[in-house]
Amino acid sequence: MKKVTKAVIPAAGLGTRVLPATKAMPKGMLPLVDKPAIQYLVEEAVRSGITDILIIVSRNQDIIQDHFDRSPELEAKLAAPGKEKMLEECLGISNLANIFFVRQQQTLGLGHAVLCAKPVVGDEPFGVMLADDLVDAPSSCIGQLTAVREARGGGSVIAVQDVAPEATNKYGIVSVDDTSLQTSQMRGIVEKPDPKVAPSRMAVIGRYVFEPEVFDYLEKVTVGVGGEIQLTDGIASSLDTVPTYAHRFEGTRFDCGSKQGFLDATIHFARKRGFKIN
Ligand code: G1P
Repeated sequence: MKKVTKAVIPAAGLGTRVLPATKAMPKGMLPLVDKPAIQYLVEEAVRSGITDILIIVSRNQDIIQDHFDRSPELEAKLAAPGKEKMLEECLGISNLANIFFVRQQQTLGLGHAVLCAKPVVGDEPFGVMLADDLVDAPSSCIGQLTAVREARGGGSVIAVQDVAPEATNKYGIVSVDDTSLQTSQMRGIVEKPDPKVAPSRMAVIGRYVFEPEVFDYLEKVTVGVGGEIQLTDGIASSLDTVPTYAHRFEGTRFDCGSKQGFLDATIHFARKRGFKIN
């Protein structure tokens, strides 16, 4: 079975929930303590053995590319005695992984963004990591999903967590064979259902591992909830042919697409790093 070595990070979203911070700054570049959110994702991917990362960007997001590139002027400055640690850290960012960029020419939705990865990913299983979701976990969240895929002998795997019944309309919600299990085969998925009709409280958070066949289904998806091409609809139509598992991951997830979640994550990572919160 082919191992997952590629991950896709859709980063082209407009970040409207955290305006005005995202008026000119891509939301993935907003820093938590001293590191842009997207770097946490890249580091998570690398910890799970992923070597090739494709970031889907839009116009005016070249700053993301710059962040993962070398910076000769800065490196020259940091070559001075006493700045070795910072130099090492800056060089480390450009050596984290093979990072590629594709431009999503129109922001038509998450499903469309993932489909933009098809020519680069090709016929291989791949991870998808949403920049809005940061997960602090004992072992890399995307790595937990690839481990499930290996244990099951293939298939797609989607990270889920139980949410309050009234919150189902904020997430993709899955139905599974057995809700009491940590990992269970998925039978359905719907995007942001009203609590009254939600099939469960098991909500998708932004970590997925897909078999490449998902692209064939995404190509046929038409506009769905919110007028967008939804990843959820592509997954739903693949369920009959691609074994797909929902996995309750271990770790804490922060919704960095919201101001409150971003603040919670900042405080969490700051505390973890030994900063004092007064
Ligand atoms: C996206 C997905 C949704 C998922 C969520 C997780 O929604 O469409 O299925 O539950 O991410 O964060 P968004 O939050 O981008 O609207």
